[in-house]
Amino acid sequence: MSDSTAYEGALADYFAGNATDGPYNAHTDRPAMLALAGDVRGLRVLDVGCGAGHYIAELRARGAAEVVGVEGSATLLDHARDRTGADPAVTLHRHDLEEPLTFLPDDSFDLCVVALVHHHLDARRELLAELHRVLRPGGTLLLSTVHPTADWVWHGGSYFDEDRVVTRFGDSGTTNSYRRMTMQTFLNELLDTGLVLERLVEPRATEAARQVDEARYRKTHQTPFFVAVRMRKVQEKPWVEEGRA
Ligand SMILES: C[S@@+](CC[C@H](N)C(=O)[O-])C[C@H]1O[C@@H](n2cnc3c(N)ncnc32)[C@H](O)[C@@H]1O
Repeated sequence: MSDSTAYEGALADYFAGNATDGPYNAHTDRPAMLALAGDVRGLRVLDVGCGAGHYIAELRARGAAEVVGVEGSATLLDHARDRTGADPAVTLHRHDLEEPLTFLPDDSFDLCVVALVHHHLDARRELLAELHRVLRPGGTLLLSTVHPTADWVWHGGSYFDEDRVVTRFGDSGTTNSYRRMTMQTFLNELLDTGLVLERLVEPRATEAARQVDEARYRKTHQTPFFVAVRMRKVQEKPWVEEGRA
């Protein structure tokens, strides 16, 4: 099973630092996801597994009207609170993402962001169904995860293994666990929700990462690390409405 409090203590503090200026989170995943987001001015955003609040701060700086963050780790929520200060447009909830988002109404968000989170969960399909429910028609889901090829290169064995793996977390001296999946599983679970795929990117580190860690910068330019997608909740088609009448 996944553990909503896995990112506590030393791992949480290490992750928060990494997400601030690390080559992978700050300079590979986040710039790619924010580029996929485009213009967020005036949007109501849900940040699922918001961690230390880096996306929340960035989205608000780019003009998002309101951001709701959901996170299982108390330590990371403290970091998120420190980062977003007393911003009245930010609301933070402690919640286990293995459970439904019952505290969030239907059709209530323009944009849902799920950055490097859903591979930690066993209830991936259930979470995706919940995100479809809370997105307004026409709304956007941005989701990133570990690239299936990166997992295969790292863990070996069969590309098609979908087991839960335990990995060393950078130089933190700690580990965390997540469930690997094939590209087929990753994409089909998303498409099964009814969301439509608009864009897929395999991000490489930006130039800023060179200053931080040249070796890891180069690595992301040779081996895929993450995959990120932009999905759209389409308006119900008129003929579906007619069929229901
Ligand atoms: C790699 S971090 C990404 C954080 C943030 N999205 C970012 O990119 O900066 C994964 C996050 O998922 C959260 N998480 C993992 N499993 C969870 C669960 N079952 N319930 C709630 N949060 C969970 C962790 O606490 C952590 O904040």
